[in-house]
Formats: sequence, C-alpha cells, structure tokens
Amino acid sequence: MTWTNPLRDPEDRRLPRIAGPCGMVLFGVTGDLSRKKVMPAIYDLANRGLLPPGFSLVGFARRDWADQDFAQIVHDSVKAHARTEFREEVWQQLAEGFRFVPGDFDDDAAFERLRRTIEELDQERGTGGNHAFYLAIPPGFFGNVVGQLQEHGLTEQKDGSWRRVVVEKPFGHDLESARELNNILAGVFPSGSIFRIDHYLGKETVQNILAMRFANELFEPIWNSNYVDHVQITMAEDIGIGGRAGYYDGIGAARDVIQNHLLQLMCLVAMEEPTSFDAESLRIEKQKVLSSVVLPRRLDLTTARGQYAPGWAGGEKVNGFLEEEGIKKTSTTETYAAVTLNVDTRRWAGVPFYLRTGKRLGRRVTEVAIVFKRAPHLPFSATATEELTQNALVIRVQPDEGMTIRFGSKVPGTAMEIRDVNMDFVYGGSFTESSPEAYERLILDVLLGDPPLFPRHEEVELSWKILDPILEHWGRKGKPEPYASGGWGPESADKMLARDGRVWRRP
Ligand code: BG6
Repeated sequence: MTWTNPLRDPEDRRLPRIAGPCGMVLFGVTGDLSRKKVMPAIYDLANRGLLPPGFSLVGFARRDWADQDFAQIVHDSVKAHARTEFREEVWQQLAEGFRFVPGDFDDDAAFERLRRTIEELDQERGTGGNHAFYLAIPPGFFGNVVGQLQEHGLTEQKDGSWRRVVVEKPFGHDLESARELNNILAGVFPSGSIFRIDHYLGKETVQNILAMRFANELFEPIWNSNYVDHVQITMAEDIGIGGRAGYYDGIGAARDVIQNHLLQLMCLVAMEEPTSFDAESLRIEKQKVLSSVVLPRRLDLTTARGQYAPGWAGGEKVNGFLEEEGIKKTSTTETYAAVTLNVDTRRWAGVPFYLRTGKRLGRRVTEVAIVFKRAPHLPFSATATEELTQNALVIRVQPDEGMTIRFGSKVPGTAMEIRDVNMDFVYGGSFTESSPEAYERLILDVLLGDPPLFPRHEEVELSWKILDPILEHWGRKGKPEPYASGGWGPESADKMLARDGRVWRRP
C-alpha cells in the first residue's frame, strides 16, 4: 500500500517526497559504511522532515548491547558525519524508534527476537509492516541472513505491506559469483523488492548528466563520433586503503569501483535518450550500452594497473600499499586501474572510453571529460595557436561540483593569438541549497520503493562480463607496476594513452 498525505497533491513535483510509515533493519551496524554513511543519512533525512514520524531503526549485530548502547553508537556517528546540523528535538524523536537485537547470523533465536521486535514496532510506532532490510555486511553472509529472514516469516508481504532488501557492492567478484548472489536474493525476494546500492547514482552531479544531456538542445547534436574524439572518466582518490585491508586485498581497484561506479557513469554518458525516466526505461538504455561494449584485442597495451608505493600525501610521508597494516607483502592487488573500452554503436564507433581510478593519487577528483576533435582547419598561424588543446566538456562530479567547457579564445592584444580558456558552471554559484548526500537520496528511494537509481541484476552481470577478461589477463601477469603515492599513477597508464596519441588530463 502506498502512503499518501491527503494534504499534498502527489502530482506536484516541487513538494518533498516523504516516506510513508516504515522502518529499517540494519545488519552490519559496527562497520564503516553504517557509521559513516547509513546512520548519518537517516538522521539527515529525519532532520529534513522526510521520514515518517514513527520511523524505526533496528540494529542487528553480534554485540551484547541494549537499545541505549545502540542509540549511543548512532548518536556518535551522526555527530561525527551528518551533513545537516544536530537538532536535539529531531534526534530525540528519531531515537525513540531505535531498537537493538543481539545475535549471530545463524542464531535462530535472534531472528525470532527480530520478528517480535518488528511486530512490536508495528503496534507501538505504526510502521505498518513495512520494513527494509539493509545488508551492510560482506556478501558471503547474504545467504545466511536472507535465509533466516525467510525462515522466520520476515520476508512475507502481508495485507499490502512491503518488505525490501538493500544490498551493497561488491555484487560478487566475477560473473559467476554475481549470479550465485543474485540467485540467493531472488530465491527470497521478488526482483522489485531488491535494491542494489551504487552510491554514485545517488550523487546529484551524476544525475545531472541526464538532465544536462536530455533537457537541453545544446549538447546532444555534438554528442557522438562526428565531434567527440574520446571520453575520459576519472575517479582519483588521495586516500590509501585506510583500515579496509580485509575488504580491499584481493578485490582491487577494478572490482571496487570500475565494475560499478565507473561503468555506471559511462552508461549515463553513452546511453540513448530513454523513453521516460522510470526505472524500466532507464535500465534498458543502460543495459544496451553495457552490452555494446567491446574490449580491444591487445589487453596488454590497452589496460594498465598499478600499486601505490611509499610517497607523500597532504604533506605527510605515507606507506606504500604493501606496508599497509593487514596487507600481505606478496599481494598483487591493484590500487590503480585503467581500461580502454569501445562502445560499438552507431553513435560511438571509433570513440574510445578511457576509464581510470586509483588510490593515493595527486588529489581527490571524479570527473567525466568529453574531449572533442580538433577544428578541421585553423585560419590562424600555427605559432599563434600553439597552446591550443582540444575543446572539452568536463563534468565535475566531485569536489567543486559543476561543469567546465574548455575552448580557444583570442588573447587580448593586437595579434590574433589564441589560447585555451574555461567557462565554468559551479553548483554553489547557481543554487543556494547544498546537495544531499548520495545515501540520503538512495535510502529515501528505498523507503519510497522508487527504483530508477538502483542497478538491475542484468547490469551487474553485463559489467562483470566486461571486466572478467581484463581481470583474467591481469591474473596471468604477476605484480602490478608500483607508482609513487601522491603522483598520477603508473607509467604504463600514460603509455597506454600515448599509443593512441592522447594524454590523460591532469585535473
Ligand atoms: C566506494 C569504494 O564504493 O567508493 C571506496 O569502495 C571508495 O574504495 C569510495 O573510497 C569513494 O566514494 P566517494 O563517494 O567518496 O567518491
């Protein structure tokens, strides 16, 4: 049953979308993701008045905690990481809906307690039987948890109420394991009740790619191989792996972010206009892009991978990957990955998409750069245009959210000298409200049952089909190339572009 506020006209899109009566059960409450992203986002939603008054949050973990201990954990995480200001009255109301269920994932009694807790909340706080199970846990436990939920009658959607499951990446480590994971989830939840989080899709600047392309007449006519020379998608981080050795070692940069975030970004840049913005139409177009991707034949020349060596970050000396706590000295996990992909469609044939990501690079920046072909003819002397590079449209996903167009302009003076200039659109300059965090948007969408921003299983499979041959190729090659922390990645990545007569942008 969809909850509607009788005072609001549901057609009026200017009004905030508010979740109806519901609650969330969080597995993995002690993890980084819960503390840094999920819990603060729930508070921020409450603070913006977007959660129902009786909203409940149940934590489930192997800890000997009472409800108050759990509330304290959420409190600390909100204080440290929430985007919006702390307001005591919002906190108090939210915290009334907190419950904690101690237990193991294979502990039947604990799931029985969870069932009773949820029933009580439905009675006491009017959550109406609507609950989302958020699995912020390693995928190896998905099977246990959803099996237990089913066995204890927690997945039944009775009398118009809903039950949904939210899963975080990694959705497997290759095609086969992704299929297995999906079978586990699909065996218990109908596909419309499974929400796979790719938090990049929750970012305002990422959604703006679609607005920019399809709400304007300016860009689309030149958005094709007639005008575009190549596309560079960069996700650079200045941080190392921090305390995430257990997760990261054996996973690496390509599985961690190319398989999901960067391929999703590529889909939004390369896709055709969907017939509407409902989930089905959007996913169909994204799937078409992924199934049109063709890998170059020589993966040794068209991909690159590296591992950060000691160096400098933010003025401090930092360890190399192999010296990080919890990493084996012999680890061959890549912390930098670059790949060349061709999208074999009429629009994109011959336009390479270069995707790169790395940890401990020069600075944190995520951007999509559409680099255009050179003007076919320049009626100016070569010396006057020496500094002119190719026109580019750069979508700055983060930080400094916005867009830049780079083009040639006459340098003031008597000569006809031409140089590159930038024209900037900055979010902060045009809009006064700050952008919500990706997790705010995505959690609200889960509670509203609104799926367009969640990748469907087919997209996940297609992404693994692209990545698997590259990972297999790397698996046969031994060690990744070391690169200095604080630099821009391994030399092989520069050579990869140089072979095509191109260079990476230095953001
Ligand atoms: C996560 C990756 O999905 O995205 C991390 O697992 C990475 O390794 C993070 O640091 C980056 O997210 P953001 O939103 O800070 O770009």
